Amino acid sequence: MQTKIIKLDPNNIDNTALCEAAAIIREGGLVAFPTETVYGLGADALHSEASKKIYAAKGRPSDNPLIVHISSYKDLLSIAKEVPPEAKKLADAFWPGPLTMIVWKNDNVPPETTGGMDTVAVRMPNHPIALRLIAESGCLIAAPSANTSGKPSPTEASHVALDMNGRIPMILDGGPVGIGIESTIIDLTEAKPMILRPGYITKDMLEAVLEKEVEIDPGILASEAACTHPLEAACTHPPGDITGPEASGLKPKAPGMRYKHYAPKADLVLVDGEAGDVVAKINELVQKKQETGQKIGVIATDETKSLYQSDYVVSIGARQDEDAIARHLYKILREFDDLNVDAIYSESFSTPRMGQAIMNRLLKAAGHQVIHV
Ligand code: TXA
Ligand code: MG
Repeated sequence: MQTKIIKLDPNNIDNTALCEAAAIIREGGLVAFPTETVYGLGADALHSEASKKIYAAKGRPSDNPLIVHISSYKDLLSIAKEVPPEAKKLADAFWPGPLTMIVWKNDNVPPETTGGMDTVAVRMPNHPIALRLIAESGCLIAAPSANTSGKPSPTEASHVALDMNGRIPMILDGGPVGIGIESTIIDLTEAKPMILRPGYITKDMLEAVLEKEVEIDPGILASEAACTHPLEAACTHPPGDITGPEASGLKPKAPGMRYKHYAPKADLVLVDGEAGDVVAKINELVQKKQETGQKIGVIATDETKSLYQSDYVVSIGARQDEDAIARHLYKILREFDDLNVDAIYSESFSTPRMGQAIMNRLLKAAGHQVIHV
């Protein structure tokens, strides 16, 4: 299959191209499109055969449900069995935007779209191309991130093309995305609202709107506490205190958060601690590896970039600029894949607002290998 890549200006969307994309969706085909978080791989959410094509193109396990993208609040009413009062409040505050809500589904949503679950994930994306595509197609659009399963989510159309060329009929190129990590997911089907995936919209922001406590999936918290680097005595967690996600016995509630994800080809290890100690430790590790003939990459910040001696040193942005860190993360992981490095060392980025979301992705990419110095 020939993949057509169409450049669109988000501020002046070419109608002919958009209509062509909308027709593909209506006919049950796949179109990749930009959202404000990452690129999505879209199909008609209420059409089981269309949803199945998404799983095939991504190589995604069929029990991992998709997010249904909508362009107006009434679309939510058309697929939810019941809409809890929290959903209205959160939609008023954050939609269109990087928040996905889990609600009980009704029979309009085929089981293929929800991986067989009785609940459905719904989001109104804040991107003019995404919103126009949904509205013009007249469909609700199921869309996971437009990467091959297990790869970093695409933040530019070129990433989508690398993974999906020849597999889908069309990619809409709206330029690089604004946020760069996937939406926050909040589950509204239990007594207490619960974050299943951290993102740009934080627990504090959600609690401020709901005026009540929002929990974080214990399965996510368990994986954050992970410290499992096998070779390093420098890890400060007491022996026996193995806090990896498997060891805790707690599974994340969102099926997709259980899979190994976002893994670069090279072994990635995070080094956490005071800036000076981190730089010294990474330089020591790089040198050891280089002595065995390996090619090494380092993920640094603008402040520390010049302090490393490695084959490749990439800055993720200024340490204070957490928006830049989130926006650049996946692109950098993909770049290191292209450079064919053998190992990557990264500073850690527990920034005040989005730190939890950034570290959640980075820890997964690293297979939870962290060295504390
Ligand atoms: O920002 C985003 O959310 C992007 C853009 C394209 O909108 N989409 C995205 O989709 O990240 P995906 O498929 O890569 O991630 C969806 C996550 C998966 O972890 C999946 O398991 C979870 O949402 N999920 C979907 N439906 C669910 C449900 N009913 N209950 C629990 N988790 C669900
Ligand atoms: Mg994904």
